[in-house]
Order: sequence, then structure tokens, then C-alpha cells
Amino acid sequence: MHLDQKVSLKTHHTFGMEVEARYFVEAKTHTEVLTLLNYRHMIHMPILFLGGGSNILFTRSFPGIVIKINSKGIELKEDYDDHVVVTAEAGENWDDFVQYCVDRGWAGIENLSLIPGKVGAAPIQNIGAYGVEVSDVIQSVQVIEIETGKQKRLTNAECQFGYRDSIFKNALKGKVIILNVTFKLQKVSDLPDDKVFGSYHFRLDYGDIRGELEQMAVTIPVISDVREAICQIRRRKLPDPAIAGNAGSFFKNPVIEKKLLISLQERFPAMPFYQQVPEKLVSSDLVKIPAAWLIEQCGWKGYRIHDAGVHPGQPLVLVNYGTATGTDILELANQIMDSVVQKFGIQLEPEVNVIS
Ligand code: EPU
Repeated sequence: MHLDQKVSLKTHHTFGMEVEARYFVEAKTHTEVLTLLNYRHMIHMPILFLGGGSNILFTRSFPGIVIKINSKGIELKEDYDDHVVVTAEAGENWDDFVQYCVDRGWAGIENLSLIPGKVGAAPIQNIGAYGVEVSDVIQSVQVIEIETGKQKRLTNAECQFGYRDSIFKNALKGKVIILNVTFKLQKVSDLPDDKVFGSYHFRLDYGDIRGELEQMAVTIPVISDVREAICQIRRRKLPDPAIAGNAGSFFKNPVIEKKLLISLQERFPAMPFYQQVPEKLVSSDLVKIPAAWLIEQCGWKGYRIHDAGVHPGQPLVLVNYGTATGTDILELANQIMDSVVQKFGIQLEPEVNVIS
């Protein structure tokens, strides 16, 4: 392991700001993570554990030590007739892992294709897209307690998953490091008319997936078609962090009371909303409003000031076009939140982790 000084973090987070870590070290194995934790009490400066940096905004250089968790490996743990149990190390690139599973006909995460970041970050914010949340297929998460160095395996229920939420953002925030994640995935066939694994239904009802498959001239999709459709939709709508720095959705979609929606619809009849899916229903009185719509209605879609902007294809995403600082992005986010409160009385909540 190398402890480097004054390391640029530009390529270690997807917003791509030019910020530095005073010290930087990469842990590639569980033993290296443990070794670093043992030295923890001797380190009299702030510590930041970093994964793929896909959900983080730095507003300044980090005055302490950044520990990048970069363990690699994918292991098939159990292989049944209809499903597999597979463990991926935290440092595996998320989308490479999705591709790995799709190539083997293991279904469940194909709708989560092309989400930037590492496997270890997926459970923290319970990544979700196109009708699927990663919590639908996570069996357990192995963590190491920062204080004691003890390893623990949390079951799906113990992770307390919610919409873009989990125990790792709440009770266990800053207390554990995620080492690996175990998934239960269904086996599907590559042949559209193969009935052997016919019980699995792809999730195609969200948004444009069916339309995209039609455009691809696919009538009965196989898993690789579903992945391809999702990738095409995302490439069209969302900025590629390699080209324009961003952290995906900057805000969560707000959940509001149905009676507030009804009163708002008197003034804004076109206001869209999603009824929460029944099994995840916390209360039937709650609805989710697309933040993208609220932001667009306030006139922000495609807005740009210097190099900080609101993505023209998906206004939920704030973009660093090159030289924006974290503070520029934060100021823009605050202006957006203020205008949404003023117009709709709805408070948006950032989903990105701001390091100030
Ligand atoms: N909309 C607009 N204007 C736009 C875009 C969208 O008004 O320019 C409205 C429309 O009403 C549209 C609705 O927003 O029907 C939903 O848009 P979309 O399907 O793009 O999804 P979203 O709710 O805005 C969520 C996730 C995304 C994920 C998409 C697709 C959150 C915070 N974001 O966005 O996740 O890709 O669904 O499933 O839940 C991410 O977390 O980084 C991310 C991109």
C-alpha cells in the first residue's frame, strides 16, 4: 500500500472537480482495509472512505486522508436450477458487474445498467432505475466496523432499504465500510422462446423501455436486449460523466401527501406523480413527484452559468461542464431548491453526499 501526498481527486469522483486529498491511499483487499483501520487511531486528521465517487460533491480539497476501497472479485457462491447467489467485491465497477451477470443469463439488475459507481456504493443509496431497486436482489452486505475492525454480514432486512435510502445513510453512517455485496439473481435463457426458465418476467413497464425495444425491432426480449434498451435510453437522456462531470440525480424525487397533490393540481393540473408500488407502500396517502418536472417548471432545464448547469435531457442532474467548483454546483442547487419551494411549496432534498 502506498500513502501518497497531495493527490488530485479529479479522476476519483464523477463530478470531476479539481480538488486534492492531503493524503491518499488505496485498499485493494480486506486485509489492507483492516491494516488501515488498525492505524486509524494514529491518524489525527479527518478520514474519508471513498468508493467510485459517483455520489459525492467536493466543495474544497480534503484536508485529511482519503482511503479508496478498491477490492476486486466476483464469486459464484451458490448455483441452483433457477437462480444463483453471487458475491461482488465493493471495488468492482457496477456496470461491469451488470454486464458480467447479463452475459451469464443472471437476471435482476439489467434495468440498473450503466449506473456509474462501484458495487460497494449500490446498497448505500439503494440505487434504482426503470422500476427496479438494487434492494430487490440484494441478499446480504458484508461490512467491517470501523471502531472494532469486526466483520459482520447484514441481511437484506437489516439494511433497512428505502427509496434511495438504507441503514448505511442513517444509523451506520460513518461506522462501517462495505466490503462486498451478495445478490440473488434469477437464471434466464438467451433464447426468446425457451420456456425452461420462463417464470422470470423482465421489468419492462417503466417509461420508454417497451418503445425502445420496439425501435430495436425486438418482440420477445432476452436479457441482453433489455440491457441494451436501458443503455440506449440512458445514453440519450443522461450525461456521460466521462464527458460532463455529474453525480446522476442530484435530488431525490420528493414524496408528498396525496391531499397536497390534489390541492397543487388545482393550480398545476399537469403535475405528474407516481403512486408508490403496492409492496413498498408505506402509506397509501403518499405519492412521489418527479423532481425533474418541478425543476423544469421553474425554468431551470438546460440552464448554465459558467461551467455549472442543469442537464438539458434530465434536469434532475446537475453538471460540471469543466471548471465548475463544488461551491458553484451547491449554489445552483440551493437556487433550484428555493425556487421549487417558492412555486410549489415542496422542499427538494439532495441525494448527493456533499463534502464541505
Ligand atoms: N420529467 C420532466 N422533464 C424532464 C425529464 C423528466 O418533466 O426533462 C418528468 C416527466 O414527468 C417524467 C418524469 O419526470 O415522466 C420521470 O422522469 P425519468 O423517467 O427520467 O425518471 P426520474 O424520476 O426523473 C429516476 C431516478 C433516476 C433513474 C430514472 C429512471 C431518482 C432521484 N432518479 O429519475 O436515477 O435513472 O428514475 O428510472 O429517483 C440517479 O439516481 O442518478 C438516476 C439518474
